[in-house]
Amino acid sequence: MRLVLLGAPGGGKGTQAKKLIDKYGIPQISTGDILRAAVAAGTPLGKEAKSYMDKGELVPDSVVIGLVKERIAQDDCKKGYILDGFPRNTAQAEALDKVLVGMGAPLDTALLIDVDKDVLMKRLTGRRTCRNCQQMYNIYFSPPKKEGVCDKCGGELFQRDDDKEETIRRRLDVYDAQTSPLINYYKERRILNSVQGVGNIDEIFKNVCAILESKS
Ligand code: AP5
Repeated sequence: MRLVLLGAPGGGKGTQAKKLIDKYGIPQISTGDILRAAVAAGTPLGKEAKSYMDKGELVPDSVVIGLVKERIAQDDCKKGYILDGFPRNTAQAEALDKVLVGMGAPLDTALLIDVDKDVLMKRLTGRRTCRNCQQMYNIYFSPPKKEGVCDKCGGELFQRDDDKEETIRRRLDVYDAQTSPLINYYKERRILNSVQGVGNIDEIFKNVCAILESKS
């Protein structure tokens, strides 16, 4: 299964991707996670990426496309993968198509997780992530049992640098201007599906799986 998850920041792409990994045993490729790891490690790539991420802007295509090309060529992607946060604009989508045609393994599905704008701000300002196991929480919707501590592994919970109101606003504008045109891009290629992303996380996941299973 070669899947792209589409949707606005805070729509629940990462949350659903983690559940898909457990169910289907295929890797999640999150360009955001790869970039944040590079920032944390202080690599030259991380230093370059940080200046864009802190402003809520997209990191240059040349950087991100190279990362994804390398990642999908790895052995664990042979059975499929979940692209989360990539592609982010038409240039990235076209570059991806070209690589996948070259590999003889085009995308199966682009799945839009559709959420109204008004809930996104609360989801993003409330998000907390475990430094150790990456489990996600939300202080408003799904808080940990003990504040600041991961229920699963006891790790420390942190707030992402770009989950500040001002940066979130810019990320949402960038989504509207640059990423939302991909909905039509994949509609025209007849691989777009969409799921309502508001409500119980497990219910949404059931709907996601029903769509994916109807395609296989
Ligand atoms: P990235 O890391 O990709 O962030 P994003 O797209 O902004 O998406 P998020 O991770 O914020 O949201 P999500 O949809 O995964 O939601 P989540 O499941 O976490 O990108 C960050 C930055 O990196 C970009 O701004 C850019 O600078 C750079 N970058 C990344 N990729 C790039 C690319 N391809 N090109 C260029 N630059 C790139 O959920 C959010 C919260 O809501 C959580 O607290 C969760 O618990 C909660 N939640 C989820 N579902 C529900 C529900 N149903 N009900 C209640 N709460 C819920």
